[in-house]
Amino acid sequence: MIKIKVPATSANLSVGFDCMGMAVNQYAYFTFQNNSKWLTINGCPKKFQNENNLVYKAFIKGCRVLKQPVPNVKITIQTEVPVSRGLGSSATCIVGGLKGAFEWFHHPISKQKLTQLAATMEGHPDNVAPAIYGGVCMAFNNQNDQVHVVKYPVNSIWKFLAIVPDFKISTQEARTVLPEQLSYQDATFQISHCLLMTHAIQGKRFSTLKEAMQDQMHEPFRKHLIKGYDQVKTITDQMHGILYISGSGSTLMLITNNVNDRQKIAKTIQNQFKKWQVKPISIDSNG
Ligand code: HSE
Repeated sequence: MIKIKVPATSANLSVGFDCMGMAVNQYAYFTFQNNSKWLTINGCPKKFQNENNLVYKAFIKGCRVLKQPVPNVKITIQTEVPVSRGLGSSATCIVGGLKGAFEWFHHPISKQKLTQLAATMEGHPDNVAPAIYGGVCMAFNNQNDQVHVVKYPVNSIWKFLAIVPDFKISTQEARTVLPEQLSYQDATFQISHCLLMTHAIQGKRFSTLKEAMQDQMHEPFRKHLIKGYDQVKTITDQMHGILYISGSGSTLMLITNNVNDRQKIAKTIQNQFKKWQVKPISIDSNG
């Protein structure tokens, strides 16, 4: 039996739209076993227990890349990563399925090659790269369409809180609300803030990270999709926190520089949003 563990991820890190992401300590587990039937999938809703399941699609892709026949397989999914909440659940499925195929055929695969395959399936590399490398990663496709990944050190002072609403947002839908073009002025704003962010997360200065995490590229266009965003933003601004939309939402990620502030903010938000999950999380550094 093959067992694969893949971490959840929080993409964009505010200003790194489609190129930055962070692995966190929530996990999806996938097992792959010989099966007498051609396909059995357990551990997910019935409507996903068929050949359109993303884990299975990625498994097939892995077999094809290896030029191997697709074996009869039983896939079991056990996941802590909520679906369509901006925590990279589809990236866990893609990475899990691909890794499963490569392990099935005892074929080692480099992290770079795995990221390349996974990013092609996902359409953007900012979830799959940290899911594979761990930590905070920057990832993009270069001019030869090769994925390039850089992992950044993160100062241990930063504490994270995942604020997970009780509703889903589809990434596809959240991409349709984005404008088609960006002015030079906005591009310059975004590049400078993203550079500042990669510097600030390595350091300890709250004010620098807060200044850096002011996205102009997607959050202004998406925040209306998250009912409660403005209230949470007001609370975090008043209580010494930094807030960004995790991936395309609905999760909001809060950053503080000490656990006491994190606890106070968590309590305040949980009091106002009783049905939401508000949970402290940490970075997964291994992928
Ligand atoms: N970068 C992607 C987006 C992440 O914001 O649409 C989706 O999880």
